[in-house]
Amino acid sequence: MCGIIATLSYNDNISNDLVSALERLEYRGYDSAGIAYLDNDFSLQRIRTVGKVQLLKAAVEKKHIKSHIGIGHTRWATHGKVTELNAHPHTADGVAIVHNGIIENYQELKKRLVNEGYIFESETDTEVIAKLIASHIKSGEKFFEAFKKSINELAGTFAIVAIYEKEPNILLGAKKGSPMAVGLSPDKQSGYIASDAVALSTLADELAYLEEGDIVIVKKGDQFLYEIFDPNGRRIRRKSVPNKVSLNDVSKNGYESFMLKEIFEEATVARKTYTRFNYDLDISKFDNISIIACGTSYYAGAVAKYWIEDIAKIHVDVEIASEFRYRNPVFAKNSLYIFISQSGETIDTLCAMRLVKEAGIKTLALVNVETSSIAREADFVIKTEAGVEIGVASTKAFVAQILSLLMLCCRNIDIETIELSINAVLNGNYDFTGLANKIKHSRSLFYIGRGVSYPIALEGALKIKELSYISAEGYPAGEIKHGPIAIIDENIYTMALAPYDKYFDKTISNTQEILARNGKVLLITTNDAKNFLHGIDQNENVECVFLPANNPLYLPFSLTTFTHLLAYYTAKAKGHDVDKPRNLAKSVTVE
Ligand code: AGP
Ligand code: GLU
Repeated sequence: MCGIIATLSYNDNISNDLVSALERLEYRGYDSAGIAYLDNDFSLQRIRTVGKVQLLKAAVEKKHIKSHIGIGHTRWATHGKVTELNAHPHTADGVAIVHNGIIENYQELKKRLVNEGYIFESETDTEVIAKLIASHIKSGEKFFEAFKKSINELAGTFAIVAIYEKEPNILLGAKKGSPMAVGLSPDKQSGYIASDAVALSTLADELAYLEEGDIVIVKKGDQFLYEIFDPNGRRIRRKSVPNKVSLNDVSKNGYESFMLKEIFEEATVARKTYTRFNYDLDISKFDNISIIACGTSYYAGAVAKYWIEDIAKIHVDVEIASEFRYRNPVFAKNSLYIFISQSGETIDTLCAMRLVKEAGIKTLALVNVETSSIAREADFVIKTEAGVEIGVASTKAFVAQILSLLMLCCRNIDIETIELSINAVLNGNYDFTGLANKIKHSRSLFYIGRGVSYPIALEGALKIKELSYISAEGYPAGEIKHGPIAIIDENIYTMALAPYDKYFDKTISNTQEILARNGKVLLITTNDAKNFLHGIDQNENVECVFLPANNPLYLPFSLTTFTHLLAYYTAKAKGHDVDKPRNLAKSVTVE
């Protein structure tokens, strides 16, 4: 998802703050970037680049900018191609704005503004905001009033920040549907507005998070301050919280990528989540549990369904948020609705939760960012202790999610065994590079599993898809014969998740069916299966890897870490940017 940063300072080196914050916002996923600032004679300047932030950084450094006010943006295109003209900031008559979200009524606004004589340079929805503010200023409104009037005309989702060359000592921001935080530097020499705490990890030590409909003004007077106004225009205090994102969180600490660092944190994250899990939520009083999420978080819910139904004997539905929110759901009585989100900002999950709240049902959020919108709006919150996750592909957060969900239904787990099984994979001598080179040219990949290995297969397929860009499908092992087996041939590689559990023999049979059609198989099993392979490991089209034998309840953890590392090394073998895969955003705050 895009990232926003805005800086107003007594110092005149704000371009350094803008660029360093954009570098930290890269993890959210983007395709282009830009800044706008007022130079020493308060005229509006703009620099935009397509591609990596370092291209923008080089262009900015060449300018030797002296400025005390500016805005920056990393764009994840929704309307308009990835071009410099479509990159933010967008401007009009001395106004510059950056925007995260979608303006749903931009066409009608654009039509009106074109009739007023405005010429649009971009294909974006965002550009109407700049022209709208300029239009209201032209009609005689002061900047703040013009900004407020414009915001009230917008439909859709937005986090917007604006500057105006004729009012060089204020930043204006507005939040609806996309995250926004405001804060001051420890020395109170600078004020900031940004998308999240990561952007301000080394700039602001305290932050206030705007709520829906809030407007914020950051002012530079004889002292720095910011004022927040609620949707009714009343000045309001939003709780200021410490910025808990540390430099360590946003550093690779010697790893070649954030993703590898975060996979290697999976055992520690499991332990931390276990240790800090002190929620006395008794799920046994509910007749049903509905789990609603997107992507990897949805797969965490799919894992939990097996555990909760098996252990707590409570019916569990797991739903994709973007489907749930539009299908006119019937809310089950005496149900617990759980919303899982690493970022806590996924708009589909947030809106699904709002739908459930409107029905008067209590909501539980399982989130990794306690200051996020989903966390703030849920009735109850369980925080996963994964720490800041920078890699766009979610890894350690998934481990924290499934561990938290396991603890919801089973408090006396053997965390030692879980930790050991993850570490056995992390520190095992598995030839991931060799495996990656074998599968990286496959036309398509299958991940199959039975029981709780099936949602892990789904997660493994998503991970390798989003990192290696190879088409991959997670499938119930028992379903392959009901159609998908038609595509099996020597160009298809199947990862068969077959730990030695009660499903083992059945999954081996399904694997034989694939081999009988010349499919290639990576059999991911456990040491205690070695004497029960019935010769399948001798097949020239089979490669076997053996994970530690384990209590079936804990097998998903080592299987997860293995599939994460396999996806990582396959992406590496293809020379991809593992931290910022193409087209992806870390937090999808648009529909
Ligand atoms: C996970 O690797 C993906 N990046 C994506 O599917 C992600 O899980 C999904 O967008 C949900 O994000 P959330 O957990 O922050 O809500
Ligand atoms: N909708 C805007 C655009 O396409 C903003 C997208 C974003 O949130 O980065 O430029």
